[in-house]
Amino acid sequence: METNSKHNRTQNRLIGGILIIMGIVLVSTLILGPTQITTWFTSSKDVSISPKALEELWKPPTLSQLPAGEAGKLITYGRELIVNTSAYLGPKGSVQHISNGMNCQNCHLDAGTKPFGNNYSAVTSTYPKYRARSGVQETIEKRVNDCFERSLNGKALDEESYEMKAIVAYVKWLGSNVPRGTSPQGAGLVEIPFLDREASSKNGELVYEEKCAVCHGKNGEGIMLADSTAYQYPPVWGNNSYNVGAGLYRLSRFAGYVKANMPFGATYNRPQITDEEAWDVAAYVNSLPRPQKDLHSDWPDISKKPIDHPFGPYTDDFDETQHKLGPFKPIEKKQKLSAKSKWQ
Ligand code: HEC
Ligand code: HEC
Repeated sequence: METNSKHNRTQNRLIGGILIIMGIVLVSTLILGPTQITTWFTSSKDVSISPKALEELWKPPTLSQLPAGEAGKLITYGRELIVNTSAYLGPKGSVQHISNGMNCQNCHLDAGTKPFGNNYSAVTSTYPKYRARSGVQETIEKRVNDCFERSLNGKALDEESYEMKAIVAYVKWLGSNVPRGTSPQGAGLVEIPFLDREASSKNGELVYEEKCAVCHGKNGEGIMLADSTAYQYPPVWGNNSYNVGAGLYRLSRFAGYVKANMPFGATYNRPQITDEEAWDVAAYVNSLPRPQKDLHSDWPDISKKPIDHPFGPYTDDFDETQHKLGPFKPIEKKQKLSAKSKWQ
């Protein structure tokens, strides 16, 4: 009898304990939302984003909030040009032939709305803005054309064209809920921590073969749709890829993009590769041939070059290889020191 009731008490305690744990999980899921719970329980592959940032993640306006009439039509066409750029402006485009067959959406995922998928949330609120790459105040049109000339290795779109007006109208509408001068949570790309070593294109090749080649092709060439008007899977190197002046040619941009978005289907809170794999695959892909670009007028003030800008001259004594592949921490440390000494 005695032992039996002891046994029952232990059992009750055990059941009680389980119920309490289930209660805690249920209540926190209700309060914090399922995303954060999965963030707690997933592995070290996670991108570290504070819980507060997650709560305040930017949400794009929905298509049902489109204005009526001409304005709504222009925005809808702009969205279509972001999603299916090549069908209108690619090598076989129905409007003009000014770009390489890629779509803006290849890099600005979900029509430029995906959190940490290089979205357009901060464009309306921060442009026109001064950019150190050009050394001038840039309008949205100029920034859009930067991507045409670099990421789509093409020609600038006439700023007065209906197509440019549509793209700008769409981008402006997307960011219309963001206060002037601010950048919302989830804008742009994730920043992953620097490695203590140089990124390894040798390791990156293995990552590429295992996790990327099925879609992007063994030779990075991508896979065209049967009617060859656009890619089903865009190229990542070679003649039809972005050129050396594009944002993705910088290692940190490529690694951040891939970490939170690739293999296709990955998200910032469900990444499928580790930070090391992201840096290494970036080193591999960006070590292979791609179109060139005359960059002599970029970064007129060389002291403003980002740490991972792969072309000298620099104001420090680290060489182009280290600026391209790292290790970046010593460069960062030296930059901080010299910034400090300027104030002394
Ligand atoms: C190969 C990838 C790629 C393609 C394709 C691409 N972009 Fe970009 N785009 C980028 C990267 C990378 C950035 C800079 C992100 C950063 O520095 O954080 C960027 C930045 C931008 C920005 C500025 C965003 C901001 O918040 O400041 C705009 C606007 C833009 N792109 C428009 C376009 C348009 C329009 C197209 C199609 C004509 C396009 N992009 C195609 C990679 C691409
Ligand atoms: C299941 C197929 C698939 C796999 C696997 C995959 N990707 Fe992608 N990738 C895509 C698709 C599709 C897009 C374009 C997305 C869109 O247009 O919405 C893309 C876009 C990209 C882009 C930007 C556009 C470009 O071509 O430059 C890069 C860079 C990229 N992937 C790199 C990688 C890397 C690195 C890996 C491996 C870690 C990888 N991808 C694995 C399907 C895939």
